[in-house]
Amino acid sequence: MSDKTKGGRLPSAASDEGYAQRYRDNPPPSPERRRFLTGTAAVGMAAGAGGLFTGGRELLASNPDSLPPNVPDWSRYLGAGVDAYPYGAPVEFESHVVRRSVEWLTATTESSVNFTPIHEMDGFVTPNGLCFERHHGGMAIIPPDDYRLMINGLVERPLIFTLQDLMRFPPESRFHFLECAANSGMEWRGAQLNGVQYTHGMIHCVYYTGVPLKTLLNEAGIKTSGKWILAEGADSSGMTRSIPLEKALDDCLVAYSQNGERLRAEQGYPIRLVVPGWEGNMWVKWLRRLEVGDQPWYHREETSKYTDLLPDGSARKFTWTMDAKSVITSPSPEKPMLSEGPQVIKGLAWSGHGKIARVDVSTDGGINWQPARLHEPVLSKSLTFFSLPWSWSGGEALLQSRAVDDTGYVQPQMAALQEARGVNSIYHNNSVQTWLVNANGAVDNVRLG
Ligand code: MTE
Ligand code: CO
Repeated sequence: MSDKTKGGRLPSAASDEGYAQRYRDNPPPSPERRRFLTGTAAVGMAAGAGGLFTGGRELLASNPDSLPPNVPDWSRYLGAGVDAYPYGAPVEFESHVVRRSVEWLTATTESSVNFTPIHEMDGFVTPNGLCFERHHGGMAIIPPDDYRLMINGLVERPLIFTLQDLMRFPPESRFHFLECAANSGMEWRGAQLNGVQYTHGMIHCVYYTGVPLKTLLNEAGIKTSGKWILAEGADSSGMTRSIPLEKALDDCLVAYSQNGERLRAEQGYPIRLVVPGWEGNMWVKWLRRLEVGDQPWYHREETSKYTDLLPDGSARKFTWTMDAKSVITSPSPEKPMLSEGPQVIKGLAWSGHGKIARVDVSTDGGINWQPARLHEPVLSKSLTFFSLPWSWSGGEALLQSRAVDDTGYVQPQMAALQEARGVNSIYHNNSVQTWLVNANGAVDNVRLG
């Protein structure tokens, strides 16, 4: 693990373009990592792995007196009372399961990003306190009584809703993933960040409850000339995105809850837009206005930003949908091999086009593949959790996963993606990730070919 990636809240972040620029100015010193590390590479260098690797030795208990057949203290004495924690927090032993930032992607904390610890996720639901955050102008704090949502533009009846007004419409609830278009963006030219939290952690998946956007637009009455929606945030960044009416009337939600409780301030309290399967930037947080128009607005976030520069110098226009992608979350640089013999390979897969149909896993760098087990439920435009039993003989291995969605689309290898889009892109990197399992159990981010 290089010291480029450090845990904890670091002085934070530039705009996505900011780190894009820094990436271009400062490409990684040696993007071509050695394909195989030899000897005794320091396992303590793997992110979060310091002291964890036991090489198959028995783990030492912190207090041998608590081991069987002795009666441990927690069985002999009364525990904490039921009102000890009015709002629950994770047990102290799991305090390493936190969002983390990357120092060199961080200019100010107000324009920043941190990453979901996806290597710690068993299942497809992200706990609210672990959802990564991306703010372009800091986190707005909006008292619910002062909140208003306006609908204007090409509508029969311009409307202003209070939060209570929104709560009176019949709600809808669905799981959806949100992936920042810049997720894995630092990996376009070579393996760079040695941790799955950093390479793939700009993603979360929660259970949203809210009002279908269609319901509110119908309430205002869209004029026949209305073809586009502008969604605008109430934070200082002036976040605005154009959304085609077809999508707005299809599956978008004006959400007030995540995982059964009100949105976190980080996620846009009291209201955020949910745009299933489409790039995270369009999911406007602290939503204050929806304007109906007859053409896109071509605002900053959909022109100079969140646009992919192609090899011929032209740019891909409106790359809204997040294509199928997957990653092995364990083993990973943060989850090294602790012993030889039977293991479980675990990971996450998703597609902005629908459901995951299959995930193939390779342990030899993409030569041979076998299908992983998809854990139910497998939902549309949601994360899907997969696993595959694997026996590790102690040698080197190259782990890859490859998602196939229900449109038949197959997640590409990086060589194919670069052939189509060159190396100037930041956004929409959905290529296959490779982890090198070293003979000593440490796991590294590598690029093949
Ligand atoms: N909405 C507003 N109002 N302001 C923002 O800075 N960031 C966008 C989007 N919506 C942003 C916003 C980006 S780039 C992403 S990836 C997602 O919110 C991040 O959502 P999260 O913070 O819930 O992870
Ligand atoms: Co983003």
